[in-house]
Amino acid sequence: MLPWFQNDQFPLYLAPMAGVTDLVFRRICKELGADVMVTEFVSAEGIIQADERTRVYTEFEDTQRPVGVQLFGADGPRMAEAAKKIIDWKQPDFIDINFGCPVKKVVSRNGGSSLLKDCPVLAKVASSIAKGVGDQVPVTAKIRIGWDQNLINAPEVCHILEDCGMQTIAIHGRTRAQGYSGEADWEVIDECSRTVSVPVVGNGDITSGVDVEHRRNTTGVSGVMIGRAAMQYPWVFRDAKHYLATGEHPTPVSIEERWELIFRHARMLIEWGKFSAEKFAMQSLRSRLMAYSKGLPAGKTLRTRFSTVNSISELEDIAAEHLAHLQAASEVTSLLPS
Ligand SMILES: Cc1cc2nc3c(=O)[nH]c(=O)nc-3n(C[C@H](O)[C@H](O)[C@H](O)COP(=O)(O)O)c2cc1C
Repeated sequence: MLPWFQNDQFPLYLAPMAGVTDLVFRRICKELGADVMVTEFVSAEGIIQADERTRVYTEFEDTQRPVGVQLFGADGPRMAEAAKKIIDWKQPDFIDINFGCPVKKVVSRNGGSSLLKDCPVLAKVASSIAKGVGDQVPVTAKIRIGWDQNLINAPEVCHILEDCGMQTIAIHGRTRAQGYSGEADWEVIDECSRTVSVPVVGNGDITSGVDVEHRRNTTGVSGVMIGRAAMQYPWVFRDAKHYLATGEHPTPVSIEERWELIFRHARMLIEWGKFSAEKFAMQSLRSRLMAYSKGLPAGKTLRTRFSTVNSISELEDIAAEHLAHLQAASEVTSLLPS
């Protein structure tokens, strides 16, 4: 069993998210309590053919371990070749195979979730990678519960993946057809966790320590994976751990602290060196800023401002205006008769 499941630890994974879980965001989530991290998915062909450009997606720091690098593709031997290349570069703690991606570009090339409806190919891909990698690093998989409502076959897929040597299976409780709509089906996740002997990590709609505790108590999962909630509020890991340890709801993070994190994220992105100029780093940060603004007062106005931000100094102006606006609003409120 992978070390982070031993002794009844119940790891909180940061879900792989393309365009989100890069080196900098993983650093933030690790500091805030995420136990296991997975890179955003990376194309096996990209690794083989354009390795320098693709390599940036697989970058991580030793402090972020255990880290898995997630691969997608449809050709087992090629994926095994890519996995070995990544292992030579960086020796991640595991290689994760993406069998859950719903995106058309991936599915139309028989990658991601399309393999859920072709179990023989899925088995070939999984076993080629497991055999190719051998005992260099463990191989794990991430799936959805099925292709669509008429093909919810995660329990069968889990058996196949276990037989092929996958050492953990993470399951997002939606079908490919659902995308991100509706609710994650934790009954299917639970069924899977009780039918295989490798650890199953449950994923879908976890937003708090209460959710983590609920899934831990009512299903057979060995850990949970958090995606969108972390994207908006990376403190979710720290808060969940606090709740699990004490049963108390943590004090929400202050607006000032949220701004501090936003600035740190921006500075770290610029310092990372992935972008040739501050402007490009800030442009790539815009979607992260949109996510951070969810749950902030006057978030809608912020999002309009974020959509054109090009520099740290502009971000400073936006923050100053936002804080002044909130200050003025609170002064007005305090003058109102109660
Ligand atoms: C922006 C975004 C990008 C994602 N990229 C990936 C990816 O690269 N690999 C993957 O396996 N899943 C990916 N996912 C799915 C998440 O890992 C996760 O399964 C999903 O968001 C459900 O978990 P949540 O309800 O906690 O968000 C992505 C999700 C989002 C929102």
